[in-house]
Amino acid sequence: MLGQDLADFVRARHEIVPADLPEIDITRPGVLEPCIATSRADVVIHAAAFTAVDECERQPDVAFRVNGEGTRNVALACREAGLPMLYISTDYVFDGEKPTPYTEGDAPNPLGVYGRSKLDGEKHVRELLGAYWIVRTSWLFGPCGKNFVRTILERARAGTPLRVIDDQIGAPTYTVHLAAALEEIILRGEYGVYHATNQGACSWYEFACTILREAGMDVSLVAPIPTSASGRPAPRPRNSRLAASHLQQQGLPLLPPWPEGLRSYLLREGGARN
Ligand SMILES: NC(=O)c1ccc[n+]([C@@H]2O[C@H](COP(=O)([O-])OP(=O)(O)OC[C@H]3O[C@@H](n4cnc5c(N)ncnc54)[C@H](OP(=O)(O)O)[C@@H]3O)[C@@H](O)[C@H]2O)c1
Repeated sequence: MLGQDLADFVRARHEIVPADLPEIDITRPGVLEPCIATSRADVVIHAAAFTAVDECERQPDVAFRVNGEGTRNVALACREAGLPMLYISTDYVFDGEKPTPYTEGDAPNPLGVYGRSKLDGEKHVRELLGAYWIVRTSWLFGPCGKNFVRTILERARAGTPLRVIDDQIGAPTYTVHLAAALEEIILRGEYGVYHATNQGACSWYEFACTILREAGMDVSLVAPIPTSASGRPAPRPRNSRLAASHLQQQGLPLLPPWPEGLRSYLLREGGARN
């Protein structure tokens, strides 16, 4: 999702050399080097990952191979080429026990395999490179690929009652808004760890209700449930809120509030009421 949305966003102003499976498998050492060498790239953005959070619990070896070792391979290729790297990371590196939003300086403590493997990726980036950005984001939705908004709308259109978690809070983030922030971060050139999400926060249940309301659909189709009733194998942070302290310190624009991101997405998809 994000990789394609990001490429679509920046293509108008920058030359993009996309790399994805099956041609480029980041778990294969050395596969990126020739691609980078012929690309004349100024920067490498690494948005590839094994992102199926529950599947990561079942296949920890795959999670660590892709998110940990794969990221190490990307960092090694960047080091060899002398290029800065932007690594996309996640709110799942935190345990969610903090009552307030997590800043870039807070200590990670992932609850599950996905978060641990993404943190492993962060560790490789920090150890291998001096010129890097680690950008943590959360709850992505965007034009390319499967996402929560699309799933809620599809199920609601089919008349399927929805049970949605009400005790995890975070910031839904529109990939196009995130893409704009990533471009700003790179152009500013100040390396380090950044948190970048749409502003504000809600629970998954509140997000689902807002999606249906904005699409002019019946909100009573959605019922709130606690995490304990979800039956999902992977533990998830209760509090996924990320404070964008580094963006603020740099005087970089914050992303718009999440309902604005949702409206932009729905307008683009033709799913908004107005
Ligand atoms: N989605 C979210 O809510 C969220 C939240 C916070 C952070 N993030 C982070 O944001 C980034 C983008 O997430 P996303 O939602 O766009 O994920 P996505 O839709 O699952 O995209 C991940 C991409 O990585 C590719 N990939 C998987 N294994 C690979 C390998 N070995 N070599 C090369 N490419 C490989 C996938 O290819 P296939 O499709 O062919 O498998 C897919 O194109 C990830 O780093 C993720 O951890 C996502």
